[in-house]
Amino acid sequence: MKKILITGGAGFIGSHVVRLFTETYPNYHIYNLDALTYAGNLENLKDIEQKSNYTFLKADITDADKMNALFTEYNFDGVIHLAAESHVDRSISDPLAFIKTNILGTVNLLNAANESWKDNMDNKLFYHISTDEVYGSLGETGLFTETTAYDPRSPYSSSKASSDHLVRAYHHTYGMPIVISNCSNNYGPNQFPEKLIPLSINNIKNKKPIPIYGKGENIRDWLYVIDHARAIDLIYHQGKNGETYNIGGINEWTNIDLIHKLCEVMDKKLGRKEGESAELITFVKDRAGHDMRYAIDANKLTSELGWQPSLQFEEGIEKTVDWYLANEEWLNNIISGDYEKYYNKQYSER
Ligand code: NAD
Ligand code: DAU
Repeated sequence: MKKILITGGAGFIGSHVVRLFTETYPNYHIYNLDALTYAGNLENLKDIEQKSNYTFLKADITDADKMNALFTEYNFDGVIHLAAESHVDRSISDPLAFIKTNILGTVNLLNAANESWKDNMDNKLFYHISTDEVYGSLGETGLFTETTAYDPRSPYSSSKASSDHLVRAYHHTYGMPIVISNCSNNYGPNQFPEKLIPLSINNIKNKKPIPIYGKGENIRDWLYVIDHARAIDLIYHQGKNGETYNIGGINEWTNIDLIHKLCEVMDKKLGRKEGESAELITFVKDRAGHDMRYAIDANKLTSELGWQPSLQFEEGIEKTVDWYLANEEWLNNIISGDYEKYYNKQYSER
């Protein structure tokens, strides 16, 4: 039985990857390592927690001794590394947390894997999950390819870029088998409501202002989270050692158009009159250093591994809204306490 360590599996994307792997590969044992920070939530995995090929390990990747001990105890064959501090706004107010988890935490995992695998790297793989934000910001035209020069511009993207470089360094220096993928913005069920889409769904539902940074002209390329998980599965099994793959939705939206679309869907779902939710749109102070546009060229993944997004955005956004409306308890458990404090601090200053 193959033993695969998935880090950050209690988070948004990680929980979908853990579910896909435990369900698709009964001959793999999936170890979900997560520190359960504010973003980690075991409720995301309630439906699979009893599976015999699944084990949860509560641990912090910044704890080097713990990472070494876990590799010694379990002898993992592969790692899919998603654990990270992931929100750009939080990286602006607390960069150090991002340096610790995203850089130091990644090095701790690389060291533990290297120590455990050094005598025989055959059939081992360290798969690092990264972001398109490492490439910086695009103008009106062009797409990020795998050879676009790194130009990260926020503490979050700089810490992710740094971790990408370190993963490649362990490949070149120690011969560690690695792959890296850089994905565009994900959306879908279980995303923490600090990110644009779930935050807006929650605010529309509660008739609260929808905060749009600047003029809402920034562009993101949105991908349904399950299509990202499918790409990760493909790359884990068929990606070439040492390679990088870009993953994207081929689905660019300005923030303001996206929120209008979301308002339209929510008006229908909530039985509100047309245009009612859009009245909640409120332009607020822009994000510091706000990247203008991200857009991915996913041709390498499509032509070499045959991946395609399975969902059109219209269908994906309806499914997402349906999920949040059907999972009120999940949302309510999050939006009390610490979330309220974060929200008030983040948005009262705008
Ligand atoms: P998330 O914030 O929802 O989840 C992160 C998870 O990591 C949480 O479960 C959290 O508890 C865990 N974690 C954080 N610090 C930890 C630590 N020190 N030790 C162990 N666990 C820790 O993030 P997400 O949106 O699911 O993103 C997952 C990964 O995918 C990240 O590496 C992110 O950079 C990358 N990514 C995200 C997107 C996106 O649109 N969300 C796009 C491309 C790439
Ligand atoms: O591109 C991939 C990245 O996408 C991931 O690596 C990050 O982990 C993920 O958080 C996401 O980063 P963004 O900064 O693009 O996502 P966010 O949802 O925070 O913001 C999307 C856009 O919406 C961005 O232009 C900022 C804007 N925004 C965001 C929030 C939270 C608003 O206008 N208002 C808001 O309240």
